[in-house]
Amino acid sequence: MNHAPRSIWTLARRTERLRPSSIREILKLTERSGVVSLAGGLPSPQVFPVEAVAEATARVLRDQPREALQYAPTEGFGPLREWIAADLATGGWMVPPSQVLITTGSQQALDLLGKVLVDPGSAVGVEAPTYLGALQAFAPYEPAWVTLACDAQGPLPDALATPSAGGTLRLAYLQPNFQNPSGRLMPGARRRALVDQALRLGVPLVEDNPYGELWFDAPPAPPLAALAGEGAVYLGSFSKVLAPGLRLGYLVAPPHLHARLVQAKQAADLHTSGFNQRVAFETVRDGLLQRHLPAVRARYKAQRDALIAALETELRPLGCDWTVPAGGMFCWVSLPGGLDADECLPHAVAAGVAFVPGSSFFVDGGGQGMMRLSFATAPAARMADAVRALAGVIRLAPSRHPTGMAP
Ligand SMILES: Cc1ncc(COP(=O)(O)O)c(C=O)c1O
Repeated sequence: MNHAPRSIWTLARRTERLRPSSIREILKLTERSGVVSLAGGLPSPQVFPVEAVAEATARVLRDQPREALQYAPTEGFGPLREWIAADLATGGWMVPPSQVLITTGSQQALDLLGKVLVDPGSAVGVEAPTYLGALQAFAPYEPAWVTLACDAQGPLPDALATPSAGGTLRLAYLQPNFQNPSGRLMPGARRRALVDQALRLGVPLVEDNPYGELWFDAPPAPPLAALAGEGAVYLGSFSKVLAPGLRLGYLVAPPHLHARLVQAKQAADLHTSGFNQRVAFETVRDGLLQRHLPAVRARYKAQRDALIAALETELRPLGCDWTVPAGGMFCWVSLPGGLDADECLPHAVAAGVAFVPGSSFFVDGGGQGMMRLSFATAPAARMADAVRALAGVIRLAPSRHPTGMAP
């Protein structure tokens, strides 16, 4: 007899498409002490400009407490929108502040775009691999995924022309800068070729750029959106340059789409915290980021170097390979001989190191032999031990599957 209680709650069909984030599940495991996490996409808390945020918060509460604690416009806090437009202009892209919409993290921008642009069955192009959170955000709107063929420079322009679902892509979701998870950077020539092709075919581009400021040696080429005009929506975020706890991101969209996104946001949360927006504006208005970012870049670069050095020592002899990212937070590692990263993960956590298996980042079941390592949070001094532990797990993997192949 089945005694399982029957719920009176009938879930909407779209909930079947909500995927648990394996990253968050792993993060729970790594909360126990002794595990070095190369898994999460968290920025290093050591680089949060805590004092500057504290002073800005005090100023907001002293000078504008009642405005800051009141409801606010959906579009966002005017001076912050102007600051963002001016910041984008320093990179050579002129955008009217009226086209900027402040969002509750760029994650919300992804959800709003799904709501406004994706019908059931719409062909949505994604890189392989791509950001898991974007897959989660779009999935409930029931897209037909189209995996865009990529090389080391990013998606191939011709891939925009071949949606397997037929018709034109409803949108292509791209991260040109230090992509999550591959760490890949799209060179300027590829950007121009992709935008030319997208404009020719009428494929709208969604450009997600949370990592662009985290370059190590030279800033990336201008955004796709600067080349594509009204053919692209651009997503930015304060999470990796200031602090993710503020939950502040933004999008830049052409006027008619912007208006729809504002309506969708009204329904979602009325507006992003006006208090946080004012604090962020007070924090950055006098050039804090220009003073602060060099230290962030230097720290991440040193941590990348420590990770790459450890990979060379420990994983090269085992036949692994990886990307050496020129910025951002992630390194993408391929395992030798059919080893399965999902299968290795519990053994790695038991040995004191965590990573994200590559399969999380594919819509079509690929990526089993890959893993994402983040070099942002683990201090350089612990990197060698963490990678040594990982090497131990990889070395023993064939003995767990005597054929040498994971199941
Ligand atoms: C590619 C990408 N897009 C968007 C986000 C969401 O960032 P947030 O909502 O904190 O702005 C992340 C977070 O890691 C990311 O890696």
